[in-house]
Amino acid sequence: MGSRFVSTMASLLFMAMVLESAIAQLSTNHYAASCPGGKAKVAEVVNTWIENDRTLAPSLLRMHFHDCFVRGCEASVLLDVPNGEKFAFGNRNSLRGFEVIDDIKAELEVLCPGVFSCADIIALAARDAMVAFGVPGLNWNVPLGRRDGNVSSAAEANSNLPPPSANFDSLKTLFAGKGFNVREMVVLSGSHTIGVAHCRTIQSRLYNFSSTEATDPALRKSFARSLKRQCPFGDTTTVIKMDQSTTIDKWNREYFENVLDGKSLFISDNALRTTFQGRHIVDEMEEHDSPFTSEFAAAMSKMSQIGVLTGSQGQIRTNCRLVN
Ligand code: HEM
Repeated sequence: MGSRFVSTMASLLFMAMVLESAIAQLSTNHYAASCPGGKAKVAEVVNTWIENDRTLAPSLLRMHFHDCFVRGCEASVLLDVPNGEKFAFGNRNSLRGFEVIDDIKAELEVLCPGVFSCADIIALAARDAMVAFGVPGLNWNVPLGRRDGNVSSAAEANSNLPPPSANFDSLKTLFAGKGFNVREMVVLSGSHTIGVAHCRTIQSRLYNFSSTEATDPALRKSFARSLKRQCPFGDTTTVIKMDQSTTIDKWNREYFENVLDGKSLFISDNALRTTFQGRHIVDEMEEHDSPFTSEFAAAMSKMSQIGVLTGSQGQIRTNCRLVN
């Protein structure tokens, strides 16, 4: 056995132990003694908001994704600091639901002051929002005990969050960097079956695609015409549904059908059908007995554990927008 092999195995083992210990410190019982009513309070507040405004459910799901992909799930996305993550391309004038988190935090500070982290609130709120949205069979375990980070940087968010112009290889690299394989990446992209996008995110795809093509030829012609009616040239602010195949915002496998049909909004959505590997998975997710929802749930539970701070790392913020 070569010494290189031994040292590689030793470092792999060490990495596995570090990962294991981070995960081991999260537990579904984390607040059982310190804040017994906490989890139920999160669900209660989320339910009230979503009863009033169903569109907040996809927004809370996306907030969790944008939190976890930048420095891990440690609520850096919530910090109101100059040049913080809120100013990143993917977040500015786009990410929403912050007032829901503030509301939950205010209730929890009454119930059990200084105990419940903002990072755990985001993770629970995303799950509870999807349950409240009414997705049959969609639920996942959210182990708790995350602590809150102290740093938030727009530049970091810009380099860690995938842009809608991303091709297959750059998506694959970004997701691999967070521990996800291609299958999980395709499955997670299926969340674009719900929610909305601003016209600015597809302007270049519709009107300024390349030096030879004004409109992305990967878009089905009739679909491109329909998008142009909804998003005229120069329109940056109108909001349109991401799954254009129905008027009701409903969780289903239609996203994958849209990807296959050239009816997905972003270059990044379309990218999933541009390689043999990606296309094969999209095909499977589109089938009648699609494992989409159950695999999505598993991938979300995994996402909720990316780079968490535990033990004595970070802090428990009193106000989710500010470092203590
Ligand atoms: C694969 C790479 C991804 C890219 C390039 C991407 C990009 C985008 C963009 C550009 C928007 C529209 C934002 C706006 O115009 O305001 C959006 C919306 C959304 N994304 Fe993604 N996304 C990706 C993956 C994901 C993942 C992994 C999730 C969750 C697990 C997710 C959940 C959502 C949701 C739910 C919305 C709708 C938000 C709302 O209605 O407020 N996305 N995404």
